[in-house]
Amino acid sequence: RKVTQILAITAVSSMLAIGTAVAAPITIKFAHVVAENTPKGQAANKFRDLVAERMGDKVVVEVFPNSQLFGDDTVLEAMALGDVQLAAPSLSKFDRYTKSLQVFDLPFLFSDMAAAERFQQSDIGNELLMSMESKGLIGLGYIHNGLKQISAHKPLRVPEDARGLKFRIQASNVLAAQFEALGAMPLKKPFSEVFTLLQTKAIDGQENTWSNIYSQKFFEVQPYITESNHGLIDYLVVTSAEFWNGLPDDIRAEVKKALDEGIAFGNEVAAQKALDDKQKIIDSGRSEIIYLTPEERALWVEAMKPVWQKFEEEIGKELIDAAYASNE
Ligand code: LMR
Repeated sequence: RKVTQILAITAVSSMLAIGTAVAAPITIKFAHVVAENTPKGQAANKFRDLVAERMGDKVVVEVFPNSQLFGDDTVLEAMALGDVQLAAPSLSKFDRYTKSLQVFDLPFLFSDMAAAERFQQSDIGNELLMSMESKGLIGLGYIHNGLKQISAHKPLRVPEDARGLKFRIQASNVLAAQFEALGAMPLKKPFSEVFTLLQTKAIDGQENTWSNIYSQKFFEVQPYITESNHGLIDYLVVTSAEFWNGLPDDIRAEVKKALDEGIAFGNEVAAQKALDDKQKIIDSGRSEIIYLTPEERALWVEAMKPVWQKFEEEIGKELIDAAYASNE
């Protein structure tokens, strides 16, 4: 009996020894600011689930939506400190790190999402993923959301209607110049504050995609939405070079594969969401959609177009031309 006991103890202790020798899974915290039921939210969750399914003993992805962990104003600093490993801020939010990505903010650059997709998948689009490498950030891919609309507490049909109004913008100098070109007042504010700013009328309006206007309930506090399709909100999935390059090669490759599949899933969702969420807003009856005539639209183009010239030197003419050429 004693021998059996000893054997049992030995077995248990060697199991424990093996247990401690097995490395704990690598945790990847993925922080973003939108709801789960959005293109980015869906891409992040799909990525998390694929990793759990395929390599759950080695890597665990934790997704923090709705600015729960970090807002886009702090997430990149947090990434440098190792407090978060993945984020996907909109392409508008990197101008402190690179001037190149500002190209995506130029008003009326892409006539539709297919053009944005072609540019992102081009050689230049791929090079842009690495435009912040010297700052310790690596881009792993683009996620679509969609084209922006302008909401306000009054109807905006022509650019003059926006004159003197306060608009919340993302932290982007191009977007600031775009509203200044209308004679409006742009205010850079975190996404998580926009609903309250609109509700309390601290600001008059904002620009965003159908998906964000719906999921953040902006339409409940903005009686008018002008379908302007004047700009893009897409995302760059970013990680820290130190974290990414420190992963074992096989794990990095598998994580990247799952991420690519998550992104592809989110991008499929994006196109449909733009249509569905717009329809839900219409059905709610809370907000009137203003459709521009070709003549009215031309006035918005004319008012905003000087922004291109203003940023041509910073962004680079070749880059702007290449992006514009993606319209075919
Ligand atoms: C915004 O701040 O309006 C957007 O960038 C939010 C988002 O991530 O779509």
